[in-house]
Amino acid sequence: MNDKKISIAVIKRLPRYYRYLGDLLENDLVRISSKELSEKMGVTASQIRQDLNNFGGFGQQGYGYNVEHLHHEIGKILGLEHQYNIIIIGSGNLGQALANYTDFERRGFHVKGLFDINPRLVGMTVRGIEILDIDKIEDFVKLMKIDIAVLTIPKQNAITIANDLVKWGVKGIWNFAPVDLKVSIKDAVVENVHLADSLMTLSYNLITKEKEDALQL
Ligand code: NAI
Repeated sequence: MNDKKISIAVIKRLPRYYRYLGDLLENDLVRISSKELSEKMGVTASQIRQDLNNFGGFGQQGYGYNVEHLHHEIGKILGLEHQYNIIIIGSGNLGQALANYTDFERRGFHVKGLFDINPRLVGMTVRGIEILDIDKIEDFVKLMKIDIAVLTIPKQNAITIANDLVKWGVKGIWNFAPVDLKVSIKDAVVENVHLADSLMTLSYNLITKEKEDALQL
């Protein structure tokens, strides 16, 4: 792999390739052409080739791609051969839903702790993991060598908490709080998730389709 800067658009497509190839592997598929992969994924074959060429290709003329190899290589590019210790801060609806999702562990993300300020939640367990009082977080992060913190709290304290976490050694923040943390946090990698953005894209596509359908009448 060369060191040139890969565009965000390409990086955002990689998890999708990884997911599709994982499904193919589960169905014991050994190889696939870029044309077949493109038909399954609804992306052009040239897009797939261009994307993968950023990392050195992986395909062979006349053979296509070896599914297991490509899945493995994309996993490596995505850093999935690492194991990450994660904590969830804010153990309400969303925090508990994420803690209950076992698939993260399969990808190397291990939930080590849950935190909340609400005394009614502290002491409860989710999938065997105890919800701890937020007071314990500094020692916990340092002792357990936490790599990633998931923020599922309201926006009020999100920036302060995120800055503290980075000071204590957290390297990545998966932020669900309704505030754009990328702007405020400089020394860690931040990924903001806004499900409502996806819903608004759906809304846009719905009205666009309605307009197109109306024109065809
Ligand atoms: P919730 O009210 O069920 O849970 C929030 C939890 O955070 C509560 O248990 C509360 O006690 C705890 N909390 C508040 N301040 C805290 C602090 N300083 N330290 C530790 N814990 C603290 O709310 P829900 O539905 O789980 O949503 C959580 C947040 O995620 C909200 O801000 C919501 O707007 C946001 N959200 C974001 C989505 C997204 O796509 N980005 C989707 C859904 C919710």
